[in-house]
Amino acid sequence: MQNFTFVNPTKIIFGKAVVAELGPAAAAAGKKALFVYGGGSIKKNGVHDVLTGALRENGVEIVEHPGVKPNPVLSHVKAGIGKARSAGCDVVVAAGGGSVIDEAKSIAAGVKYGGDVWDFFCGKAEIREALPLFTALTLPATGSEMNSGCVVTNEATAQKFSAHGAALFPRVSALDPETTLTLPRAQVANGAVDSIAHIIEGYFTTTDRDAGVTDEIVHALARSVVASTLRILKDPSDYGARASMMWSATLALNGLPTCGYGGMNFINHAIEHALSAIYDIAHGAGLAIVMPAWFRYHLETSGPARLDKFGAAVFGTKDAEGTIKAFEDFFRKAGAPVRLSEAKIPAADIPKIAANAMGLIRMWGMKHEQPEIERILSNAR
Ligand code: NZQ
Ligand code: ZN
Repeated sequence: MQNFTFVNPTKIIFGKAVVAELGPAAAAAGKKALFVYGGGSIKKNGVHDVLTGALRENGVEIVEHPGVKPNPVLSHVKAGIGKARSAGCDVVVAAGGGSVIDEAKSIAAGVKYGGDVWDFFCGKAEIREALPLFTALTLPATGSEMNSGCVVTNEATAQKFSAHGAALFPRVSALDPETTLTLPRAQVANGAVDSIAHIIEGYFTTTDRDAGVTDEIVHALARSVVASTLRILKDPSDYGARASMMWSATLALNGLPTCGYGGMNFINHAIEHALSAIYDIAHGAGLAIVMPAWFRYHLETSGPARLDKFGAAVFGTKDAEGTIKAFEDFFRKAGAPVRLSEAKIPAADIPKIAANAMGLIRMWGMKHEQPEIERILSNAR
């Protein structure tokens, strides 16, 4: 077990009807909120009315910044920064999925920065401060509601990069599982795959395989994601399953499931971000294609030990091949594509995808070269 520091300052309010509690919380931090949301799902499920009502009741003025698209883009982030500055917003409130929260984080940091906000994403500047951020999560998947990262696509260069900084941790996130009842089935699948991806990256790439407690946290979260997802697919109105899924997804990327691991990296994410940057597919769908291909590469290069251990604990499988098949079966059952062809991505594009992935691989300091990435992707044909 490696030395580690674990800090997570985000306050989580979890359960039925908790979104309104963001009103007094945000009022304690500012007087005028930039209210960031997406294409309208929060108007259909009532979160928009509840949240704007709670903010106004607590004396917070609202400047709306709607229209965040899945896989949020830099131009829309910049528009939000301009809006927040000209209106004098002193707090940011976000309601929606990871894309909305990530854009809100980028705006919160960008407002406080004199240069180009993209500097944070390409390593030219560090995030030192940000407007205080409050979030209402409606899609369990990314963990953005309780972490200090955000992902944005520069649509001019087709780079999907991430920025990080302690100032980006939301002050308070409200997680009401009932707000997820309106999720389309495809988003249930994307969320399940992404949550699994967050816990397997550290587990499989750690150079220290003797962090027993963290391995057990990973196993438990994976079992919970699989079991909750299967229950949700069977009965979308199952509150217990929605609640378990929501908390599992948050815990999957809040720092807890990697404590004590060493030398780990996010290789599946680096490759996936190339897919969603180029083809604008959902992050979860891209991961369902990349992970089984990467597991085959992992088996060839690192042996069966981790696949054996994970599979036995999570799927009840007997060997590494069985574990890879169990992952694929689960992704398929959830409704995600597991081959490039199933997402209509031609195998001839593999060199282009690998070249794009190299941008993030270098940015994140990984030791992979393009031929290796092409080899991994060729397992996904
Ligand atoms: O835009 P609206 O109308 O809100 O609809 C959204 C969107 O179309 C819809 N949706 C969300 N909640 C809903 C709902 N529809 C009905 N009922 C609800 N309750 O779902 C669609 C997808 O939303 P999106 O926010 O894009 O999905 P997700 O949460 O999966 O976020 C994906 C983004 O987060 C990034 C991904 O790369 C991608 O850009 N990630 C962020 C991370 C982080 N900040 O830590 C880590 C992840 O690895 C990931 O990279
Ligand atoms: Zn992810």
